Amino acid sequence: MLDIKVTKTETPKAKPAKDDPLLFGTIFTDHMFIMDYAEGKGWYDPRIVPYGDITLPPAATIFHYGQGVFEGLKAYNAVDGGVNLFRPDMNAKRSNRSSDRLCIPEIPEEDFVQAIEELVELDKDWIPNEPDHSLYIRPFIIGTDPFLGLRTSAYYKFIIILSPVGPYYPEGLDPVGIWIEDDYVRAVRGGIGEAKTGGNYAASILSQVKAHDEGYSQVLWLDGVYRKYIEEVGAMNIFFKIDGKVVTPMLNGSILPGITRDSVIQICKEWGYDVIEKRIDIAEIEEAWKNGTLEEVWGTGTAAVISPVGKLRMGDEIMQVQDGGIGELSQRLYDEVTGIQLGKVKDTRGWIV
Ligand code: COI
Repeated sequence: MLDIKVTKTETPKAKPAKDDPLLFGTIFTDHMFIMDYAEGKGWYDPRIVPYGDITLPPAATIFHYGQGVFEGLKAYNAVDGGVNLFRPDMNAKRSNRSSDRLCIPEIPEEDFVQAIEELVELDKDWIPNEPDHSLYIRPFIIGTDPFLGLRTSAYYKFIIILSPVGPYYPEGLDPVGIWIEDDYVRAVRGGIGEAKTGGNYAASILSQVKAHDEGYSQVLWLDGVYRKYIEEVGAMNIFFKIDGKVVTPMLNGSILPGITRDSVIQICKEWGYDVIEKRIDIAEIEEAWKNGTLEEVWGTGTAAVISPVGKLRMGDEIMQVQDGGIGELSQRLYDEVTGIQLGKVKDTRGWIV
């Protein structure tokens, strides 16, 4: 159990107005959590301090070799008046798996969750109440060793910041357009694709800019070897409903193991759907679209929750799904997942903390 020292801000900031659109990740709360690590000493000095800039040596590992990992989860004002976190233990586990891949020291799961709980408790008045709004929690760990040689850092910081957010996409729950990228790739097996680390996201920006310029929200990545098997969408995992069955790419070492992805698979199975996790050739999706069995497409992610996909663009072809509207299952999943998060739907699986 961490003994967290709390220094409260003496200059609390004004909270966003009720009708503020809360663009994703632009506003931050009054406090943040910080804990340091030094080789031979371990993690030490857990503290909550006023939110503000941090000072790092320009030579710090994170700036040059990107040795860092991050997580994303949300806190909700629940209907019973409490504050809900959704499966934070899964974030703690995934953070440690990402850290293992990047040679960063692990943080005990219970310490990771405790730090989130104490920070959210202190800044809970920042949790928005508007529909589809929440408090986004961003824990991250960075190597801070002031050394330009390439080796694992001897020093780290574990930091948590909080941001009141509205929907991730400006479209809200309206279906987004996805660009199927056939030029660049995001990750390959054996690389760092399944770790939640900045490099994967940096690698995706060029394609995303291209997709945005063409009026699409995000890029759908194909595998880096055969260039035809579906992987994920930079900020989400992807699901298809084909001929009544729920199909999603199997985790293969280069896909991020999403917590919403895992939750949706469990829920769909409980609802009686055949859920198939497999290698999906993009030609299979095109074929299903052509023969009319591609019933729905949606993305899953912490930030994006359940995001219906209205069209997929592959080369010159635009595959319109659900006439560009929201599919029945996507809507039902959205209602179920957000219902559990807000405490409107009974949490039968022990997901809420
Ligand atoms: C999340 O969904 O929490 C993520 O980390 C994706 C990020 C691009 C916002």
